[in-house]
Amino acid sequence: MAVDHEKIRLEIESFSAKTEDELEGFRIKYLGKKGVLKELSAQIKEIAPEDRKEFGKTLNALKQAVQEKISSLKDSLSEEDGIGDEKKDQTRPSGTEDAGSRHPVSMVRREIEMIFQRIGFTVAEGPEIEDDWHNFSALNFPEEHPARDMQDTFFIEKDPDIALRTHTSSVQVRVMESQKPPIRIIAPGRVYRNEAISSRSHCIFHQVEGLYIDKGVTFADMVQTIEYFAKAFFGKTKIRLRPSYFPFTEPSAEVDVYWGLENETDHRITKGTGWLEIMGCGMVDPNVLKASGIDPELYSGYAFGMGIERIAMNRFQIGDIRMLFENDIRFLKQFKGAW
Ligand code: DAH
Repeated sequence: MAVDHEKIRLEIESFSAKTEDELEGFRIKYLGKKGVLKELSAQIKEIAPEDRKEFGKTLNALKQAVQEKISSLKDSLSEEDGIGDEKKDQTRPSGTEDAGSRHPVSMVRREIEMIFQRIGFTVAEGPEIEDDWHNFSALNFPEEHPARDMQDTFFIEKDPDIALRTHTSSVQVRVMESQKPPIRIIAPGRVYRNEAISSRSHCIFHQVEGLYIDKGVTFADMVQTIEYFAKAFFGKTKIRLRPSYFPFTEPSAEVDVYWGLENETDHRITKGTGWLEIMGCGMVDPNVLKASGIDPELYSGYAFGMGIERIAMNRFQIGDIRMLFENDIRFLKQFKGAW
């Protein structure tokens, strides 16, 4: 069932219309009396009662996607074709205001949020100015860990205890301190690193952190969730995990999706390997649970973290990360109409 929804969502997103008739056809296809969404909602009878709420949410999201698509296409059609000309004042000067568009990083962040919301994750936030405890100590960073170093972290002058967060993992700790399991959150946000090593490096970027804590959460649960994400976001079904190290997870892994090696772009994107690295993950270290006030004897969980810029570059085929920070209007304009 979930597969169907995903397919429908992709169809809706990728639809475009050159004429008003085509747009009307699209509306009837999805929202009409015998439309796709009506048919889908009829299926609710076959859904187990406990799953109906989730099913309803998915339906609503699809409906909203259709409506948004229609209104954005309507806008662009009327701009191009002069639809509704008879109502327009022909003597008005041309060159109307240009509406802005969402930034590609925001688009990807929103898409990631929606994918995880569909399986019960809620969005959490934390401060960008963070203390040592939430950014490092509670996350099991040893005193002498290089990430704590002045070279990596922007400290607030005169107070070595306060810094700009270097990752969104700090939100894990804040959520565990303030909520009881089961906890299922994703935390998107801005992070800061003091990396003025080359002109290509940048000090501000975005990450999404995920955290799931409950009784009996296993590594297999984590893998399944990541597989679901890889399929929903990239449309890819094969992933692999490579052993890795993070202070706050044990065991830890790096996740690659199998991207393929069919053409030159695939070669370039995957550096000839066919695999694309998408995130770090692992089982939350018992020390982290303890530090955050959760009993590791009773609970276990997994966490993962990914950088949004890299994923956005991949999604939109952006060749240079700096384009995401320069806010050149000629670049940003190209994302108009995407959502
Ligand atoms: N915090 C890591 C970083 O900034 C990303 C990360 C890796 C987060 C693994 C996680 C994780 O929660 O399990 O590079």
